[in-house]
Amino acid sequence: MEHNQRIIFTNDVSAAIDQLLAEADFNRLFVLTDTNTSYFVLPRIADNAHIADATNITIKSGDMNKTIEAAADVWRALCDNGGTRKSIMINVGGGMVTDLGGFAASTFKRGIRFINVPTTLLSAVDAAVGGKTGVNFRGLKNEIGGFNEAEAVVISTCFFSTLPLTEIKSGFAEMLKHGLLKDAATYDRLLAYDFESRDYDHLLSLLRESVEVKAEIVRCDPHERGLRRALNLGHTAGHAFESYAMSRKSPIPHGYAVAWGMVVELTLANMLCGFPSARVQEYAQFVLENYGSFHITCADYDALLTLMRHDKKSEHGEMNFTLLGDVGDVKINCSATDDDVRAALDIYRDLLHI
Ligand code: GLY
Repeated sequence: MEHNQRIIFTNDVSAAIDQLLAEADFNRLFVLTDTNTSYFVLPRIADNAHIADATNITIKSGDMNKTIEAAADVWRALCDNGGTRKSIMINVGGGMVTDLGGFAASTFKRGIRFINVPTTLLSAVDAAVGGKTGVNFRGLKNEIGGFNEAEAVVISTCFFSTLPLTEIKSGFAEMLKHGLLKDAATYDRLLAYDFESRDYDHLLSLLRESVEVKAEIVRCDPHERGLRRALNLGHTAGHAFESYAMSRKSPIPHGYAVAWGMVVELTLANMLCGFPSARVQEYAQFVLENYGSFHITCADYDALLTLMRHDKKSEHGEMNFTLLGDVGDVKINCSATDDDVRAALDIYRDLLHI
């Protein structure tokens, strides 16, 4: 990747946009929103003169609309409104908008600059940072896309006040993951966060620490050849829960799946890498109190194992996990046997009182 991604943490998004655009040499400005953010978020930054003058492109919200056809609509709007190599697009939205917008911008005329303004905690802590862009294709998530970092990412908690608590908790699970990857002090600060307080200034400082963990990993391994796989912690089991819930026609939020998946994977880490039992119990307690549990019985294990074997990161039918020896002691590319995973699922059920 050509440069370190510029990440601005602020609760004055308009001033950050002014500052970024004052430094940029550009001709036309485009603002990409979806049908949610054009209604709920755009009016909150519409006083900004740059935004007021920009061409707004709106796509339909929802992951099912993260398609090549929607990207083509964006290309069409860029063409019809005089977009050139010197144009900039600001993507205002959750992960669907920043992924699709990043992809459309990266491929238009071989690439125009784009700025991400994530409007959910999940997109702020994950999707908007790190250069993964793309669309879904033939039912597969993010099947088409490329690595290309935004010119800048403007991260603020000011949009979160209208989000349901479920959304905040969903994003927070990825923050917990970053804390576990980083060190005990960062992780303990997260465990002490009180969701009920709705203290968004405090959340912004925790978010800053968390995003910096991801940004540092991406700096070392932008194309996910090795270390970036650390970010898969909780996701092998988490994706299996997410897909399984979908097949049972009762979808669960991504971050909840990750929160529960990390209970399984920290248990595996305890069994296989000596991750401390007390830390597993403490984490499970936090999850139980804040996320509840995802109900499974041993009759579900075979289906879950099959899903884990088919995870994107697994190879040759072998399950691939990121595990920890302790908080901050990351071990990528760990394998586990079916029996290990069955035992971890048994313990998951005990810990979450299922
Ligand atoms: N969401 C994990 C990554 O960006 O690599």
